[in-house]
Parts: sequence; C-alpha cells; structure tokens
Amino acid sequence: MATADLPGPRWAAGATLLVTGGGAGIGAALCRAFTAAGGEVINLGRTPAQGPGVRNHLVDLGDRDALDSVLNSVLAELEDTGAPVRYLVNNASLRRVQPLGGADRAHWQETFEVNLFAPMELCRTVGDRLPSGGAIVNVSSGAARHLSAGTAAYAASQAALEAASTVLARELAGRQVRVNTVAPGPTSTPGLRRAVERGQSLDEAGLAGRIPLGRLGAAEEIAAVIMFLLSPASGFVTGQVLPANGGL
Ligand SMILES: NC(=O)c1ccc[n+]([C@@H]2O[C@H](COP(=O)([O-])OP(=O)(O)OC[C@H]3O[C@@H](n4cnc5c(N)ncnc54)[C@H](OP(=O)(O)O)[C@@H]3O)[C@@H](O)[C@H]2O)c1
Repeated sequence: MATADLPGPRWAAGATLLVTGGGAGIGAALCRAFTAAGGEVINLGRTPAQGPGVRNHLVDLGDRDALDSVLNSVLAELEDTGAPVRYLVNNASLRRVQPLGGADRAHWQETFEVNLFAPMELCRTVGDRLPSGGAIVNVSSGAARHLSAGTAAYAASQAALEAASTVLARELAGRQVRVNTVAPGPTSTPGLRRAVERGQSLDEAGLAGRIPLGRLGAAEEIAAVIMFLLSPASGFVTGQVLPANGGL
C-alpha cells in the first residue's frame, strides 16, 4: 500500500488465512475476525474451528508425520482451488509446567515440536509460497520475558520463535512478505482456565492484580492485534515482536 489509507472493514475479502489452533481461545477469535473481514480460513488443529468460511484439517501439531501428511493435503487443496494462502498465523502452543528435575529430554522435545518445529515447518512449506503483500504472524508469549519457575522449555521455545520470526522477516522482506510476532500477556481463554485448574498459573484475580490495566486481556483483543499485523494497515511493520499485555 503506497498511501496511508486505512483498509476498509472487508480488507480480507478473497484472501485465505492458514491458522493453527483456531478451535478455541485466541485462534477462534481470530477466525471470527478474519471471516468478518471477508476472508476464508483454513484451520490446522485438534479442535475444529466453527463458522462460515472456515475449513478444518484436524491434526496434532506435535505429531510430525501427521503434520506432514496434512500439509500435503492442504497444499493439494490449494492447488485445486487456485486460491493461494495469503496469510499464516502460528497460534497453537504447548505450555506444560515442569521443574528442572522432571524436565527430561522428552518434555523439551514435545514442547519444541509444537512451539517451534511445527511453526517453522509451516513457515517453510506455506509461508515461503506467500505472494507479495502476504504476511505471517507467530504468537509467542510474555512468558519469554517474564520468567517463572517450571517454564524453562516453554519460555525458551517462545524466545526461539521470536528470534526465528525476526530472521524470517529479513529473509522474506525482499518478496514483500512481512513476518511479525505477537506476545500476549494473560488472556482469558480455555487454555488459561485449564492452567489455573491444574494449579499451573495464578487465578484470574491474582493475574489481574499484577497487570497495570488491572484485568486480563480478551481473546478478541489479541486477535485484533494479529489482524492489524496481517492487514495492509501495518504494511511498513516487519520483524517486530509486539507485546499485548495490559502494560506488564
Ligand atoms: N491465554 C493466555 O493467557 C496466553 C498468554 C500468553 C501466550 N498465549 C499464547 O497464545 C496462543 C493461544 O493461546 P490460547 O490461550 O488461546 O490457547 P487455548 O485456549 O488452549 O486454545 C489453543 C487452541 O490450539 C489448539 N492446540 C493446542 N495444542 C495443539 C496441538 N499440539 N495440535 C493441534 N492443536 C493444538 C487447542 O486444541 P484443543 O482445543 O484440542 O486443546 C486449541 O484449539 C498460544 O500460543 C499461547 O502460548 C496465551
């Protein structure tokens, strides 16, 4: 976009977004926002995403063979429809709290498989084919900077995702494809509620008390930041990590 015009409400019309983990939380809010902006969504996840304009390919991103096979089907489907993916959002992740003594090689492997290796495989196979004007957003976590006990693998995987995203931004810039990262703070989602139930996180009131804005984020608020980074409104923004965390 050569001018400073803001995109209209249907800026995504005719475009396809590939998202991971669109079945719940931030990913589900993103599916709703993107289809409301006129686009189509392909969701790769364990749980189907709902709503018109969404196609689902169910897969556990931690299962490398299953992911390879689903990616082949998605690429074949895209070739058939002749409507290439324009946007990629790596949203799903695995957060398990495990203190050092229990953090064996399998724990690190599982965490990195979902949080770094799967997103990088998607960037390689899908992201590398994005047309000029396309964009990738990877979702990391404030946990990469606000470090707490038991999260070594999770925090390290999110920090690695941020570093890799910035490198990919440099590699794809020449093709006018942008790559950015959103780092959410505590956000009210099924994933966070599960962590609270398992005693792996402060409860919502405890978390809210630590956040300068005094409340948790809503999934829709994080989705709105991702939408901004996909849209032409952020056409001069690439290689950045954008925290969305109420001021933490
Ligand atoms: N919520 C927060 O406070 C917060 C804070 C910082 C960062 N984040 C990041 O934001 C992103 C979204 O979080 P969220 O809170 O929206 O999570 P969520 O409510 O748990 O939703 C995540 C979605 O991704 C799917 N998913 C997870 N692991 C998967 C796997 N291995 N294979 C396929 N699908 C998988 C889940 O499937 P199921 O429905 O089957 O579980 C679910 O549909 C994550 O990267 C997370 O690290 C969230």
